[in-house]
Amino acid sequence: MANFPQTQKALIFNTKTNALSLTNAAPIPSSTEEHIIKVHSTAITNGELTWASFVNWPTEHVPTYDVSGTIVTEVTGSKFKPGDKIYGRIDAAREGTARQYATILPSETALVPKNLSMTDAASVPMSALTAWQAVFEQGELSASPYVDEAGEVVGNQAKGKRALILGAAGGVGLFAVQLAKIAGATVLGTASSRNEEFLKGLGIDEVINYTKTSVEEWIGGDESKKFDLVFACVGGKSMLDGWSAVKENGAYVSVGPGFKEPEGGKPKGVKSAWFVMDSRGSELELIGRFIGKGLVKTWVDSVWTIEEYDKAFAKTATGHARGKVVIKIGDEE
Ligand SMILES: NC(=O)c1ccc[n+]([C@@H]2O[C@H](COP(=O)([O-])OP(=O)(O)OC[C@H]3O[C@@H](n4cnc5c(N)ncnc54)[C@H](OP(=O)(O)O)[C@@H]3O)[C@@H](O)[C@H]2O)c1
Repeated sequence: MANFPQTQKALIFNTKTNALSLTNAAPIPSSTEEHIIKVHSTAITNGELTWASFVNWPTEHVPTYDVSGTIVTEVTGSKFKPGDKIYGRIDAAREGTARQYATILPSETALVPKNLSMTDAASVPMSALTAWQAVFEQGELSASPYVDEAGEVVGNQAKGKRALILGAAGGVGLFAVQLAKIAGATVLGTASSRNEEFLKGLGIDEVINYTKTSVEEWIGGDESKKFDLVFACVGGKSMLDGWSAVKENGAYVSVGPGFKEPEGGKPKGVKSAWFVMDSRGSELELIGRFIGKGLVKTWVDSVWTIEEYDKAFAKTATGHARGKVVIKIGDEE
């Protein structure tokens, strides 16, 4: 039986006052269905503190759902065992991972690829799974690429297709670009000038600088420039602008805030969806194989201590983090 301290450090979000605070006196969780893990790092998702109306949080709720850590307790039937270095995304309807000990379902868990640090690992699950599900499941760009049992990449399923990622330099966008490229699509994305070279380094075919031109202007009425899939990781005007770029019978998928159809309705035959990602450890394992081969990279915007939580949340809230903002809680690599 593991030796736990009596209490732990945890970040608390009060759903009545909408305030975050840090306590040293939070309880250690207990569970037989979920593994208890010692948290190494956790990552913030933009807008997550506004999700209270979608989920049934108690007044005092632990935020942040992306986690890397070490398994401490066993769960009957789980393939993970104490000492395993894991990462995953906790369903936001449960308690989060901004604390020293948290819990995770076996179905949400995957082993951390050997070439990934625990800090970097915390930046992956939510973003990579959202991107994967948007591109290959909701957006049906193509069948998904994979690394076979011999370690060979089976890609190019989307050869000849075009994908546009709105918000390509954010946590989700970065993964969408890289995964659609492995599938062989031509991939363009919107970002500001400071991210152009960065995105080219990740293999993007072209960056549309949203601070200089709208997508509608860039398309300029040329049907051949339109896309089989537009994936919006941003909301507002930019999300609406993206509708002008979808081909007839293409797909428009969004995960950003305030998704809606354009005035006058969506283009003919376009399939559209706003969805909430599903946390699947098995899918994270498949994505992890690309990371393990160095073919997919994650990006950490900045790393903060738990005491610096207000600065960390403020950085995410700017909407201009490159990749994810991480809070490092433990030290074990
Ligand atoms: N529904 C779901 O399941 C789900 C899952 C995960 C995330 N989300 C949501 O998806 C959204 C994206 O999350 P995230 O973690 O990728 O991102 P994020 O941290 O909000 O994205 C930051 C990035 O967005 C870029 N950006 C800001 N405004 C832009 C614009 N108008 N056009 C193009 N790029 C712009 C910034 O690049 P520049 O600095 O170059 O401007 C920055 O790199 C969030 O609202 C999040 O809550 C939803």
